[in-house]
Amino acid sequence: MAQSDNIDYGTFEATLERSKKLEKDIADNPQKYRVLTGDRPTGKLHVGHLFGSLQNRVRLQKLGVHTFIVIADYQVLTDRDTFESISENIKQLTLDYIAAGLDPDSGNTNIFPHSHVPELNQLVVPFLTLVTNAELERNPTVKEEIEASGQRRINAGMYTYPVHQAADILFCKSNVVPVGKDQLPHLELTRVIARRFNERFAASAQVFPEPQPLLSKAPMILGLDGSQKMSKSRNNAIMLDATEDETAKLIKKAKTDADRLITYDPEGRPEVANLLLLSSLCTGQPPEKIAEEIGDGGAGRLKSHLTEVLNEYLKPLRKKRAELASNMDYIRQVLIKGVKEARSIGEATLDEVRKAMNMVI
Ligand code: TRP
Repeated sequence: MAQSDNIDYGTFEATLERSKKLEKDIADNPQKYRVLTGDRPTGKLHVGHLFGSLQNRVRLQKLGVHTFIVIADYQVLTDRDTFESISENIKQLTLDYIAAGLDPDSGNTNIFPHSHVPELNQLVVPFLTLVTNAELERNPTVKEEIEASGQRRINAGMYTYPVHQAADILFCKSNVVPVGKDQLPHLELTRVIARRFNERFAASAQVFPEPQPLLSKAPMILGLDGSQKMSKSRNNAIMLDATEDETAKLIKKAKTDADRLITYDPEGRPEVANLLLLSSLCTGQPPEKIAEEIGDGGAGRLKSHLTEVLNEYLKPLRKKRAELASNMDYIRQVLIKGVKEARSIGEATLDEVRKAMNMVI
């Protein structure tokens, strides 16, 4: 076990480089790949999610890659006390996914909450025996979340959810996981678990692939305060289902600076740069060019421009979302179908896992 004794969290740059190569191969050979990614159902999605991850998933789906989207409802229990809204959030998340272009009727996209897939959850038990407590305690993302949660008593689920996440990824033998930087430690742990499982139990045949992270090229969208990542809990987000008026009001209140001449300077003027970036994503024009056109029109002009282009850009998505929301039974059917397929794939994997572990009766 010499080689896989240590979890190497690697460098971000190396992962980015590998992602580029992977990206190319996926486009050339989509049938070689199976994508799994997902979210915690903590609320509706916002514009940062759309440009940061949703569009990337839709793009992969369009390349013809089979895509699994896990709604990680169990993970919600690790860092918060409330669970009243999980069921509602699962449905709202599914609405956002489909409105953004993920298409469960394509036969290529599966959306499911992992709490409904017992076969997936069973993998957690053997997986836990393949890692040490010390390794789980060293996970940098978990450490940050513990600090951010402000909780004094940390439940064991907080330390072990990355192992559960490995089960999310490996139950369907996915080999590509589109994620943001904060999820890379979990991906590395997943790779280690796959490797150790194969080494320990499956010397002659490989049961699990070592999935690769796919870092998206999408830029990080800041919130309307311009100082931190867009996020609902930080109160700086534009939700996908906001009305046009709400969107206008939020943008009006966005933080900018006193310089009337609009320039694109992400380092020196992050707030203005973020609004320009959003405009750019909606119009396809380079942010520098938008800045030039606004010139000395000041933040007011920039904001009215962004309001107009963003509302225009989101119009079809919002229309589709509203239509879908009037037929929640369809959303439920999507999830039921997603669960059914996930279970059947999970059952086959679990069979293989039991055989490898000598647990056939
Ligand atoms: N931890 C992820 C998040 O907080 C959600 C998640 C759960 C996930 N299981 C996953 C992401 C599997 C990618 C793959 O956003």
